[in-house]
Amino acid sequence: GAPGPARAAANGIPFGAAIQAEYFEDTGYRDLFRRECDFVMPMNELKFALVQPERGRFDFDRADRLLDFAGANGQSARGTTFVWWSTNPPWLEAIADPVDLERALVEHIERVADHCKGRLASWDVVNEVIAHDPDENCGPLRDTFWLRRLGPRHIPIAFAAAARADPGARLVLNDYDLEFRGPRFDRRRAIVLSIVRQLQGAGIRIDAVGIQGHLYAHQAIDVEALARFGADLKAVGVALLATELDVIDFQVPGGPEEIDAAAGKVVGDFLDGLLGGQRPQTVITWGLTDRYNWVEDVMPRGDGQPCRPLPFDRELRPKPWYAELRRRLARG
Ligand code: G3I
Repeated sequence: GAPGPARAAANGIPFGAAIQAEYFEDTGYRDLFRRECDFVMPMNELKFALVQPERGRFDFDRADRLLDFAGANGQSARGTTFVWWSTNPPWLEAIADPVDLERALVEHIERVADHCKGRLASWDVVNEVIAHDPDENCGPLRDTFWLRRLGPRHIPIAFAAAARADPGARLVLNDYDLEFRGPRFDRRRAIVLSIVRQLQGAGIRIDAVGIQGHLYAHQAIDVEALARFGADLKAVGVALLATELDVIDFQVPGGPEEIDAAAGKVVGDFLDGLLGGQRPQTVITWGLTDRYNWVEDVMPRGDGQPCRPLPFDRELRPKPWYAELRRRLARG
């Protein structure tokens, strides 16, 4: 398929969005991805429980459908994720023996990375491993079953296995709450940098940090801190990308105009910070149209109005902030 009119200029920063197999029959949805995206990203289809529902039984049908779509349209793709606290199959979390659990993790990474080899530009190797609210009582890492059973070494184990399994894919540490103003967010940024240094010190490859970018229409971005974070990563040779951009609007009163104006402000600040430290490899939104979004289920608006987190509304009309985003990315 020919690239749509909205695809990035040769020197621009590529744009993409997470796509979901269950809405694939919606042709308006599918056409929007074909037209707008340089990148597509299976939102859930490469998560552990979906690709290996039983030990040793792999199911790549849904993921392949999306990756074949990307291939047919000349789009790049990226994958999420090997290590996460969510969406793990019960058989995996039932493994008590650390030796066996490490083997299961490495085997999973080898099989899945090998299956996708050549089709994914990058992998979220670990997702959301930083403590939500790190302090002296809880330590830097999130309390997950991976941490409890394998300790902090599950992170280098996963990166090393991914590097062996797909030498061509960029390996990404992906996390949220890395762009806001305040001490909790300063601590989370510092922990990411320290994990990067530890991996590099151990001779283990990490290519990029993924900032999810689940923004809140009411919450201030720390533009300077975000730019500094990008510059600090650049100084140690690590790239940056935005992986799950959307705007959660449940605390902004008003109608579509007010919501979109508030969203435009935080997206603009986010881009100022993101582009301020180094040139991001790509910016990916967590879906493309409000017609299908995760925010409605998890953080609905109190006033009964539908939320508006994504670049296109339910009728597939672009929001003002999407046009601005594309202008910024085109400039590179
Ligand atoms: O497909 C079934 C449907 O048949 C069924 O009727 C319905 C009932 O609840 O569930 C549907 O599956 C759900 C799926 O989303 C549909 O999109 C799963 O239960 C649900 O667990 C799944 O949630 C996903 C979640 O991660 C957990 O994997 C969300 O789509 C996805 O947006 C969300 O993404 C995460 C990122 O990976 C990490 N960062 C945060 C982000 C938002 O939570």
